Amino acid sequence: MSTKIDIGKLTLKNPVLTASGTFGYGQEFESFIDPSLLGGIIMKGTTWEPREGNPAPRMAETSAGMLNAVGLQNKGVHHFIDKILPAITKYDTKIIVNVAGNDVADYVKTASLLNDIERVDAIELNVSCPNVKKGGIQFGTNENLLKELLSAVRHVYYKTLIVKLSPNVTKIEDFAKISESEGADAITVANTFLGMAIDINTYKPKLSNITGGLSGPAIKPIIMRMVYQCYQVVKIPIIASGGIMHWQDAIEYFLAGATAIQVGTANFINPSASIEILQGINDYLDNNNIESIKNIIGKVKI
Ligand SMILES: Cc1cc2nc3c(=O)[nH]c(=O)nc-3n(C[C@H](O)[C@H](O)[C@H](O)COP(=O)(O)O)c2cc1C
Repeated sequence: MSTKIDIGKLTLKNPVLTASGTFGYGQEFESFIDPSLLGGIIMKGTTWEPREGNPAPRMAETSAGMLNAVGLQNKGVHHFIDKILPAITKYDTKIIVNVAGNDVADYVKTASLLNDIERVDAIELNVSCPNVKKGGIQFGTNENLLKELLSAVRHVYYKTLIVKLSPNVTKIEDFAKISESEGADAITVANTFLGMAIDINTYKPKLSNITGGLSGPAIKPIIMRMVYQCYQVVKIPIIASGGIMHWQDAIEYFLAGATAIQVGTANFINPSASIEILQGINDYLDNNNIESIKNIIGKVKI
């Protein structure tokens, strides 16, 4: 029974990753789980300059999900390399940095710097953050801007490049195809959906940013459809992100065409969720005599 999968130039020991912004840098979860058991951990959104993020309130619970508008709060890529990376280098897992920027030059500077940092195994280009005024989602919802960005990043970044797509588009397959043709090694499908919630007592939006990104079980069927659609048009691996709370959700995504999955909102409810999902996947393979996880990828019967 093998859970090994390949993403670009990397072989991951299993297909379970933690989603950017929901697992800190791994250290925050050390008292609950051993991050080394995971296939990889994806760092929170990292930018060239430090960012304050949006003012509170930045999170709101919704039916079957949550809204967030954190706005890429982080201390910048230099702080990450100097202060955080040394403390997490010990993890026996892939370290993937989620990279965001205001403009193409910003993304290029950060990607180029991370290209030379040996312990960073891959970057996940965040072209889909719905909560910042500049950068982010602009690139993931405009085909020409996405092409321009990927071509510029590919010129300076030679390691495994993952593009995290936005679900806030009519045809996500078109963005998947652009990512593949511009040299991405994999795509993440997808980031959060733009949403809104209003407090009926104060008449005010529940988030100071007014709108935020919707995540959690509410989005799973929509992202499932998107993974399936992307699988029809690209050969590069698809990493599913959207409402994976239990191992059954992960299996469903593999059948739809995902090679790996990310655990996001579930980490806030159950900090051991990622490891329980991994265990569930292992048991499912065992119980059904499936030799390799690769054997079920895209095997939904239509
Ligand atoms: C609080 C919070 C912060 C997030 N921060 C980031 C981020 O910095 N970069 C990014 O690409 N996605 C970010 N996301 C999106 C998640 O990585 C994930 O793609 C999304 O939540 C969907 O998965 P889920 O339904 O399993 O949570 C964030 C999500 C949440 C809830």
